[in-house]
This record gives sequence, structure tokens and C-alpha cells, in this order.
Amino acid sequence: MSKFEELHQEALAKIHEAQNSKDLNDLRVYYLGKKGPVQSLMKNMKDLPKEEKPLFGKKVNELKQKLSVLIDEKREELAEQEMQAKIESEKIDITLPGRSCKTGNLHPLTLVNQELEDLFIGLGYQVIEGPDITDDEYCFERANIPKDHPARAMQDSLYIDENRLLRTHTTAIQMDVLEKSAPNLPIKVVCPGKVYRRDDDDATHSHQFMQMEGLVVGQNVTLSDLKGTLEFLAKKMFGQSRQIRFRPSYFPFTEPSVEVDVSCHICDGKGCPTCKGTGWIEILGAGEVHPNVLKMAGYDPDTCSGFAFGVGIERIAMLKYGIDDIRHFYTNDQRFSWTFKRFE
Ligand code: PHE
Repeated sequence: MSKFEELHQEALAKIHEAQNSKDLNDLRVYYLGKKGPVQSLMKNMKDLPKEEKPLFGKKVNELKQKLSVLIDEKREELAEQEMQAKIESEKIDITLPGRSCKTGNLHPLTLVNQELEDLFIGLGYQVIEGPDITDDEYCFERANIPKDHPARAMQDSLYIDENRLLRTHTTAIQMDVLEKSAPNLPIKVVCPGKVYRRDDDDATHSHQFMQMEGLVVGQNVTLSDLKGTLEFLAKKMFGQSRQIRFRPSYFPFTEPSVEVDVSCHICDGKGCPTCKGTGWIEILGAGEVHPNVLKMAGYDPDTCSGFAFGVGIERIAMLKYGIDDIRHFYTNDQRFSWTFKRFE
């Protein structure tokens, strides 16, 4: 009987101390298995006096029963502990910021170009592009630019051979559109694209930049139509309170020609460094399409008229985003490029 009690105490202690479910399982196999000490107690039964046998047998079974219950309880306790430990060790800190991968964004010139295109598409214009390489005829001749005009000189334009050159203005596309459309009317197009000039690069000059040409030809297309269109453009790009003004100018391909100013969006026309104290900022050149240009393309200037304008995309972007050096657009410093993510 004392051996019996000893075994009971020992099993209790061991079960209590079991650290994990494997240890516990070993204990179960040991104490409740066929070759274990509890089972071998039964072997002693035959040496007991007859009257003690039933009680002994009952006690052994009770012990087995008790140990089995204890082991089950302990198993649940360990399983719970192990689950807690697992949860703890595999815990994910959902407050940690994720690893973001760097994505690109649209270039500011693309942004401005798209904004202008959208604006004109909204007014019913078509967007037409043309080749960067053009020739003397479309770049100059058809644009009514006389043979001795300085724009034709080798030192101002980038010629590829005697006749071909990189277009110096998007007016070359305008001439192509006019010729291809004749004699149909109306024409309502914008033509964006890169243009190239022999220039020394500095804060405000670049040998390559972007323009958008606008061209409308139809019956009675007047200077006031041009003014209304450009006022719409100025308000869309620089704010609803902007105004525009025309100043007389000269372009061989327009008559009359105007230089267009927009009231300064920084100081609201009061005068500041951006507008050099004048309250006005020059944004583009424009005018009524010259009768010679219409004639050369195959239109009769007595029965139709049109307006054209050429706007510098860099200039608009610099004014809109407060960029002080045109070279930023082309040097691809990512600190500059990424600033425009928020405008997309
Ligand atoms: N082609 C002119 C330039 O490059 C701009 C312009 C276009 C002016 C159309 C009038 C009409 O400066």
C-alpha cells in the first residue's frame, strides 16, 4: 500500500511539472501503459490476502482513472499555454508601416500638356501631332517667313542637311494640318510637340522645349474669338480671377499679331518679382492667320479666316508651379520630379 501511495505522489508531481505536451505524453505512456509501474502493481495482487484483493484492484483502477483525468487536464493547460506562446511569437505588429515601393509619376511637362489638351478637347478641338524633323517648306516657307528671316539662318536652327531641320516651332505642324485639311472647314486643332533651337541653355532658355500650337479656321473666326479662347485658357490654368490683355506684336504667319499677357497669379496684378512689378506675365504669341498662309495651303482668305496661337509648355509649367530654372525639366533630379506626385 505504501508503494502504491508513493507511486501516486510521484506521478502527481511529475504530471504537475510537465513542461510541454511531449513530456506529458511520455508520462501518459509510462504511467498508464501496459509496461508501466501502475500496471505492474497489479502483478503484486496475487501475493495479497484474498480479502484485500478487491480493494487493491479498485484502488489501482481509481489511481489510473485519477491520473488519466489529471493528464487530460494538464494537456489542456499545456495546449493553452503553447497556443499563447505561439500567438505571442508569431505576433504581427500591424502598426508597422509597410515597405512601400517607389513608383514613378508624370513629368510636370506631361502634366501641363495633358491639362491643356483636356481643356481644348473640352472645347471640341482635335489633338494632332507631327514629325520632329520637318523641312524648310513647312517650317518657314508656308509660314510666310521670308527667305532672309533670321529664323532661317543656320546659327538659329538645327539643320540635318541642306533642306531638313528639327522644327523650330509647332507652327510647322499647323502648316501641315492646313494643307491636309484644305479645302474643308472648319479646322479646330491643338498640336503639341517638342521644338528645337540653337540656343545656349540658361535658366530661361533651352535648346529643346515644348510648345502647343492652336489653330481654328472657319467663317468669321475673329480676334475676339481668340481672346475668349485664351481668356478661358488663362482662367483654367491660373485661376478664375485671371484676366488677359493683348499687345501688338509681329509674326510673319499672323496678321494682326499679338503678344498675350495674363494678370499675375502670384500678386493678383499688384506687382511682384514674378511679374517684374508690372502685374502682367507674357504667356504666348498669337494672331489671325495671315492671308498668305491660308492661300498657300489652298484656302481663299476672302471666304474664311482663322486664329492661331503658340504657347510654351515650360513657361506655363514654370509659372504654374513656381519653377525658377527651365533646366530642372531636363536634368532629371528625382527630388524635383517627385514633387509633382501630388499634382497627378
Ligand atoms: N510660332 C511662334 C513662336 O514659336 C508662336 C506663334 C504661333 C505665334 C502661332 C503666333 C501664332 O514663337
